[in-house]
Amino acid sequence: MTIQLDVDRSADVNADGYHEFKLGEFSFGRDEFFVYIKWPTGGHIMSADAFLRALQRDVAWDFFYGIVNFDGVFGTVNHYGTVDMFAGRYNDSYRKAELDYSENLETPVIRETFKSMLSDWTNQSFDPFASPHETGSAFGVKNGANEAAVTRQRVAAARMVGLPGDQQPRTDEMGFPINRMFADVDQSEPVVEVEPGFEDEVAAFSLFAYLSRSNVTWNPSVVSVCKDSLACPTTEEYILPIIHGNDRVEWFIQLSDQITWEVEDRDTGAVRSRVVMKAGDVSAMPADIRHQGYSPKRSMLLVWENNSQAIPEAIASGKAPTYPIEF
Ligand code: PHB
Ligand code: FE
Repeated sequence: MTIQLDVDRSADVNADGYHEFKLGEFSFGRDEFFVYIKWPTGGHIMSADAFLRALQRDVAWDFFYGIVNFDGVFGTVNHYGTVDMFAGRYNDSYRKAELDYSENLETPVIRETFKSMLSDWTNQSFDPFASPHETGSAFGVKNGANEAAVTRQRVAAARMVGLPGDQQPRTDEMGFPINRMFADVDQSEPVVEVEPGFEDEVAAFSLFAYLSRSNVTWNPSVVSVCKDSLACPTTEEYILPIIHGNDRVEWFIQLSDQITWEVEDRDTGAVRSRVVMKAGDVSAMPADIRHQGYSPKRSMLLVWENNSQAIPEAIASGKAPTYPIEF
């Protein structure tokens, strides 16, 4: 099979300096404030900052687990090799009116288009991964670019942060100062005296110190891997820029401060619950919901993922339950 990787980007820019993009039957444009999405049965408008924050995560996470809803209308479903790009597919009103629309695309094709759009539409003043307090504006006519920010790779340890040859604890020298909101976090590191012969296998680091130096928000990084079990902590401030539709159970451990989670039915968007998580709280998000978090202060959250490729199919076919545990 040949995959056509040419990005369909307009030759000319519009009056505000931005290119327009086409992917399948969808078209995308932006002006000073808004992004406009069109498809054969309808159209949609989003604020440019919200769109770019969601797009940045969809790109950096390579379409993540399950569904990335940019909002209640537009988003992507990861089939791990192909991706559905949809409008209204997980919105009861669009479904009932038969106005929903979805297209299945080879992952490299949507990946390249999304990367190109993110790069063209992000001005030099804006960092889509940063807290609103720590970035300039997304708005206005085209003004430079921020390639360093939009091409950030998701940090992923192969075994564990601190092991030889793997991701290392963050320091000032590496360009990771302590965040303004975590000035009180203890920076001491554990002392490990390793038996000779085990230098490659034993390490320890302070997760709190590590997270206090994160310069991004709502961007889980992998700090330890045990087979399919991934510890993915992250620092949060303001609102998770996507509404995540799960294809597996995820566990949350609130390490500091507080996050409110709005939990909805994954397929219809009907409200299911509001979960307020305070430091020390643990929850499991079922596999048939979607969720969006609100963090009034910068907080630390540990997301625990099961990376097994067998799970989405086992849950979708009913072989595995949508909840993690029977008490
Ligand atoms: C999630 O969808 O579970 C998620 C995504 C990003 C975060 C935290 C949680 O930073
Ligand atoms: Fe999630």
